[in-house]
Amino acid sequence: MTKFICITGVSTGIGRALLDFFHQRGYHIIGSVRNNDSVTELTTTYPEKLTVLCFDVRNQETTKKAFSSIENILSQGKLDLLINNAGIAVPGPLECLTEEQFEEQLDINLKSVRRITNLLLPYLKGDNPGRIINISSVSGILNTPFMGAYCISKHALESMTEIYRRELGMFGIKVVSILPGPIKTEIWKKNIGKLNPYFDTPYGHLLKNADKLIEKSDAQGLPAERVCQAVWKAFTSRNPKTGYIVHKSPNVIRFISRVLPSLWLDSIMAKTMSKGDKIRPI
Ligand SMILES: NC(=O)c1ccc[n+]([C@@H]2O[C@H](COP(=O)([O-])OP(=O)(O)OC[C@H]3O[C@@H](n4cnc5c(N)ncnc54)[C@H](OP(=O)(O)O)[C@@H]3O)[C@@H](O)[C@H]2O)c1
Repeated sequence: MTKFICITGVSTGIGRALLDFFHQRGYHIIGSVRNNDSVTELTTTYPEKLTVLCFDVRNQETTKKAFSSIENILSQGKLDLLINNAGIAVPGPLECLTEEQFEEQLDINLKSVRRITNLLLPYLKGDNPGRIINISSVSGILNTPFMGAYCISKHALESMTEIYRRELGMFGIKVVSILPGPIKTEIWKKNIGKLNPYFDTPYGHLLKNADKLIEKSDAQGLPAERVCQAVWKAFTSRNPKTGYIVHKSPNVIRFISRVLPSLWLDSIMAKTMSKGDKIRPI
């Protein structure tokens, strides 16, 4: 019986690395992208064991249609894993973000996860239930200034992951979160210049070095392979952890997010920001 793995957002970055990782291990991947150039490139690179679906996760109709079009493929095998990976990062002070920017961030990183999960649940349930892995972020447990919309989307995704885990437990479906820190992917370049519109606001002096810091985080990011290894653990462990942090210093992240009092963290962040060169903008 064919073993299927569905991954959203496989055109670049972590999604692309996951596609490659599971494809090499013999799985048939159902991968989503949102433009036709990516469809052509992927079907050429992976002529077998890849079904590419093209839709924007914000569009409920095309998302539904795309999955309906492969009902016959899915019914021939078993959906072992759904990886909700597609995501964007919208930087900027919460005060300045438009309604549309805030909505776009939540729609892509959060609401689409529920839409896609619910569409695929019938294929994950059964005698040998599949698993769900959500690509969250350390921003799901740690709030950083000027990444408010992103942090809120990932905190809410952490909550959604936990609720699904508790609700779907009775079907034997395990739901796990992966929380990466900076990973070397295209997401960083996509944000170069995105903070420029806020230079003329009262926050401007804190954001002047944003592009340099984005480039630095990109250069120092871990390879996407590290996320693949964590996903593999979450997928294959008999009793997976509820979440896997993928970071150079996971214990520091655990300490500052779970142990350090919030008021202490506020003061550390305020001091860091006043130095003007340390705040990580995404
Ligand atoms: N890189 C990091 O440092 C890092 C750290 C923590 C968590 N993450 C998370 O990892 C996930 C993957 O990010 P990445 O770093 O691999 O970034 P990436 O290279 O930019 O990949 C993002 C993927 O999501 C797709 N996508 C974005 N918006 C979409 C939409 N509206 N409809 C359909 N597909 C859409 C992109 O498609 P297009 O190519 O068409 O844009 C792309 O395939 C995200 O959830 C992100 O929050 C990343």
